Amino acid sequence: MQHIAIIGARGALGSDLMKVFRHGWQVTGFDLPELDVTNLNQLRRQLAAARPDVVINTAAYNLVREAETNRDAAFAVNDAGAANVANVARDLGAVCVHYGTDYVFDGETDHPYAETDAPRPLNVYGASKLAGEQRVLAASPRHLVLRTTGLYGETPTLTKGANFVQIVWKMARGKQEIALSDRETCSPTWTLELARQTRVLLEAGADGLFHAVQEGTCTWREFAQAILDIGGNAVVVKPKPSEADDTLKRPRYTALANARLHALDLNRMSHWRTALETFLKSEGGRQLRERTLG
Ligand SMILES: NC(=O)c1ccc[n+]([C@@H]2O[C@H](COP(=O)([O-])OP(=O)(O)OC[C@H]3O[C@@H](n4cnc5c(N)ncnc54)[C@H](OP(=O)(O)O)[C@@H]3O)[C@@H](O)[C@H]2O)c1
Repeated sequence: MQHIAIIGARGALGSDLMKVFRHGWQVTGFDLPELDVTNLNQLRRQLAAARPDVVINTAAYNLVREAETNRDAAFAVNDAGAANVANVARDLGAVCVHYGTDYVFDGETDHPYAETDAPRPLNVYGASKLAGEQRVLAASPRHLVLRTTGLYGETPTLTKGANFVQIVWKMARGKQEIALSDRETCSPTWTLELARQTRVLLEAGADGLFHAVQEGTCTWREFAQAILDIGGNAVVVKPKPSEADDTLKRPRYTALANARLHALDLNRMSHWRTALETFLKSEGGRQLRERTLG
């Protein structure tokens, strides 16, 4: 049986990867504080002891706003940390799987970005993630880099406190209408489907850079309205003008196209509305709602 090491195993995506690889693979999960990707010696020691065939790295500095003033911390995890994992995986003869972001693009478009489109990050988080994916692609001869966007699922990202679905549930509580901006268009993605797509790619022996997001596009306001509609909540999400933000530049349009997945006939990502509905009606979705709203 092949052995997979999952770094960031208690995070949003990592916890679903742990579930998806539980059958048919031997799985070992790592996370802070026992393994820190910025600590090369510790990383080498832990992975050498586990002897994995595949190393999946979900560890990231994901606080987009804070990264502007914490550049070193963002680059330490997203750039140097990613390179550490890729280099150790290469030395162990293991495949390295890494995740990138839609924020590598500047958003100056009106159609979903393909893998062949030129990145141009607008902020520190995007720049640190772009540097990291380039290091993985250069370091390891056997690698997969999956760029994704707007993750949500059963396990929220600890450092953010709540995912977007939970934020919308809380905003709508006791209201008849709420307001969100239509400024940003994206491809919100369910962590469980992304984890399953990762397994499909690995088992097909695919390598290189892939975009892996739910099909279709929406604005965050449209996504919020769908969260409430599917949950049987009558609250209306009205468009509100986006507020000027002098401190953080965010790309306006960051939907991605799963162009390579389609070209290789390996796309398993459903439409964003189908994935959202399946998640909200799943046991994990119901439990998250219970934990969020009580
Ligand atoms: N979330 C999104 O919307 C989104 C969008 C585009 C791309 N992505 C990418 O998708 C991947 C997975 O994201 P996610 O949302 O699952 O993130 P997450 O929920 O923050 O999970 C990352 C996990 O890695 C851990 N970690 C952080 N720094 C570490 C370090 N130095 N060494 C070892 N582990 C560390 C975190 O621990 P702590 O919780 O204790 O920090 C957490 O358990 C990342 O590469 C991210 O950049 C995410």
